[in-house]
Amino acid sequence: MSEKNASLTIGNDTYELPIYEAAVGPDVIDIGALYKNTNMFTFDPGFTSTASCESAITYIDGDQGVLLHRGYPIDELAEHGDFLETCYLLLYGSLPTAEQKTKFDAQVTNHTMLHDQMTKLFTGFRRDAHPMAIMVGVVGALSAFYHDSTDIADPQQRMIASYRMIAKMPTIAAWAYKYSIGQPFVYPRNDLGYASNFLHMCFAVPAEDYDIDPILARAMDRIFVLHADHEQNASTSTVRLAGSSGANPFACVAAGIACLWGPAHGGANEAALNMLNEIGSVDRIPEFIDRAKDKDDPFRLMGFGHRVYKNYDPRAKIMQKTTHEVLGVLGIKDDPILDIAMELEKIALEDEYFKKRGLYPNIDFYSGITLKALGFPTDMFTVLFSLARTVGWIAQWKEMIEDPQQRIGRPRQLYRGESHRSYVPVDKRG
Ligand code: SDX
Repeated sequence: MSEKNASLTIGNDTYELPIYEAAVGPDVIDIGALYKNTNMFTFDPGFTSTASCESAITYIDGDQGVLLHRGYPIDELAEHGDFLETCYLLLYGSLPTAEQKTKFDAQVTNHTMLHDQMTKLFTGFRRDAHPMAIMVGVVGALSAFYHDSTDIADPQQRMIASYRMIAKMPTIAAWAYKYSIGQPFVYPRNDLGYASNFLHMCFAVPAEDYDIDPILARAMDRIFVLHADHEQNASTSTVRLAGSSGANPFACVAAGIACLWGPAHGGANEAALNMLNEIGSVDRIPEFIDRAKDKDDPFRLMGFGHRVYKNYDPRAKIMQKTTHEVLGVLGIKDDPILDIAMELEKIALEDEYFKKRGLYPNIDFYSGITLKALGFPTDMFTVLFSLARTVGWIAQWKEMIEDPQQRIGRPRQLYRGESHRSYVPVDKRG
């Protein structure tokens, strides 16, 4: 039971609302009984002040620029760990022992193949279909193939579904890319690590061997770590809401992919690179800065701003470092797009308009430059984001399903439409 209460006075009535203490960060006020006691709803359309659930997976402090996964800072995980270790941590709550990691890596590796009939799904799309459209379709179709891991009440089946999702996303993402460029699918290989396997499936061709640069593979793996989970963002909230009805887990992840696609969310990395290309040269930056401030202009600086981070996005710092590493390995010295990005960041960080609004580069600002340097086309950037975020979606979905308090999510509304009207026959309407 809560020791602390908040008092809410409406007219002559005062209501006591329980306050629950957080392990770290903001406490919450339980308003669950508000409607029953006051016949009123709370109103928070963008959920800026609403905690939708209780979770122990990821903590973000937007003012301090802190991101913790199960208590571990993102920079330590990115520096010292790898993506599959982060997957284990998000799913199970602790870092794996050497034996646990070996077993987990092997389990994921052994689920990377797709049911062979799924290869035919890709051919139903136009070759110029956006790869995110293919991801929504093919990932959703997983729910038609793996019926032995969809009884979400069975912990064993939930875990198999989790492994399958994590393991198969790189294969689906790589095949979406191959399909779009008219090259044959390259099958996963069990002798390659997670990121190396993905790069191999994307860039190898049957006609010759493909050498994987270990530094680029490490950079790819680190990019996956940086995108793995991020508290109750829009796509994670989508997966939780879809899962709250008991829906098929693969279908829930497909819903998350659909939400992530939006340019205000995961689509920002693609939009940020398109924006840098549109700016085209350093001397045109002031023109675009002015447009970003103009309320009558819908233009936004893509890759800037964040609902939670009103200070620097800790992932952006690591992403920027990775960008320079990758460009260095590839010998890309004078990348005009990087020059524009660095100058835009410098100008924006000194500009009062952006400082006052807490608009700093987020992870999407630099990820596009890195992914372009690694050889990915712009429309694949959000696909890679969805590949990495799948473990976050699945870990949050699993936490929700295993919560004994779990019930279907069903928000209410502030109704501002017509009150009661009687039907008028069509020959009587003015
Ligand atoms: C991701 O939630 C997550 O955790 C998401 C994510 C994850 O890992 O899951 O971190 C991944 O989605 C990162 C965000 C990527 N999106 C972009 O880079 C797109 C550009 N950014 C904006 O669209 C915006 O900043 C949002 C959507 C990210 C946040 O929007 P908010 O919190 O609703 O902020 P807001 O729109 O209320 O803006 C506050 C003010 C407004 O000005 P005023 O009305 O106060 O004068 O800041 C301005 C906005 O006009 N503003 C911007 C801006 N973002 C906000 N002005 C110019 N350029 C921008 N990018």
